[in-house]
Amino acid sequence: MSDLASIREIDAFAESLRKDFPILHRTVHDRPLVYLDSAASSQRPEAVIEAMDTYYRTYHSNIHRGAHTLGEEATAAYDGARTKIARFVNSPTPEQIVFTKNVTEALNLVAHSWGRANLGEGDRILLSTMEHHANIVPWFMVAEMTGATVEWVPISDDGVLDLDALARMLRGASVLACTAVSNVVGTLNPIADICAMARGEGVVSVVDAAQYTPHQVTDVVAIGADFLGFTGHKALGPTGVGVLWGRSDLLDSMPPFLGGGEMIEHVDYDGFSTAPVPAKFEAGTMPIAEVIGLGVAVDYLADVGMDRVRDHDVAILRYALAALTDAFGAKIRILGPLDPEQRSGLVSFELGDVHPHDISTILDQEGVAIRAGHHCAKPLHARFGVTASARASFQFYNTTAEVDQLVHALDIALELFGL
Ligand code: ALA
Repeated sequence: MSDLASIREIDAFAESLRKDFPILHRTVHDRPLVYLDSAASSQRPEAVIEAMDTYYRTYHSNIHRGAHTLGEEATAAYDGARTKIARFVNSPTPEQIVFTKNVTEALNLVAHSWGRANLGEGDRILLSTMEHHANIVPWFMVAEMTGATVEWVPISDDGVLDLDALARMLRGASVLACTAVSNVVGTLNPIADICAMARGEGVVSVVDAAQYTPHQVTDVVAIGADFLGFTGHKALGPTGVGVLWGRSDLLDSMPPFLGGGEMIEHVDYDGFSTAPVPAKFEAGTMPIAEVIGLGVAVDYLADVGMDRVRDHDVAILRYALAALTDAFGAKIRILGPLDPEQRSGLVSFELGDVHPHDISTILDQEGVAIRAGHHCAKPLHARFGVTASARASFQFYNTTAEVDQLVHALDIALELFGL
């Protein structure tokens, strides 16, 4: 396919779906919005907004409690969303889907529940150097409580996980926490191979799929992790809901994370017993509207087709990497692998010596939204000798014209700084 034909194809795909996203039609500083911050939070289609609106307008009630009509309708919608999400990630059973507040809570649940019950003095926790703080800090907390130690699996200068080092480090380790896609360098890790390596050494694998699930097929069976978490708001769903998927035998054997209503089977003056999974991990009133919204979001993604989403992702990354290097040459330093097939969803960069926050502010004046900062991954930035970066991130609703707009706005930033 010629470049032009492929550009037309990416744009036709994006244009055919943009109409479903009301927010993409607004302006910012009198310019059309160019939203390149989907890694921080994606936008959501009308269908998700409508589903949550309908819930609140017509059948809002608590779930799994009352025997009245509204309660039954709300319960059916909530439980139905669990089934949709199970199907979306190919979970063998819906009960392996636990709803949380976000991926951070999902990873904390594993660290605190599984970790505190299974780790002790001298046990080794492995973290990849490209983890987000959500898959670092809970493990430091649990290490401090249990006497386990934290070790870092190194990455190469182009942001690729060192699998030889991983193989060596896995021997005798207890748990590996690894992201499927880095939210800074964009690396798409060979996560099924990594989980197979961990399994081969009897090491429990905990996968952060927050940046992975919105961009390609998530098949928990094929990935072979012991635990995998993702968040709703990066996957076209609402904020306030995340998902933990886990191996049944592990979830069954783990103590609860939060205590309260709905997670018990029985409570008396002497103590309590827990409800079966997933209720054991869903204490108190859950984010019902958000779970229902996430169910609609994954149905939307499935209708679009995750293989097509991945094709768009690779194509727009190829276009963006070429456009940025052509326009800025030695002035731009792109973090992470330069092969779009090895990436997913985003490009982080330094431009001259302009501070990323200045870049982001100047771009905003042109209607272009990107993220600047450490992206909650300070150890990874330290690995590259920087404290912050600018990050443009994509979803299937982005067009090549928007990448051109990014390049144009970066040109303005360079000019303002006399570079
Ligand atoms: N962790 C999210 C990001 O990378 C918020 O932007």
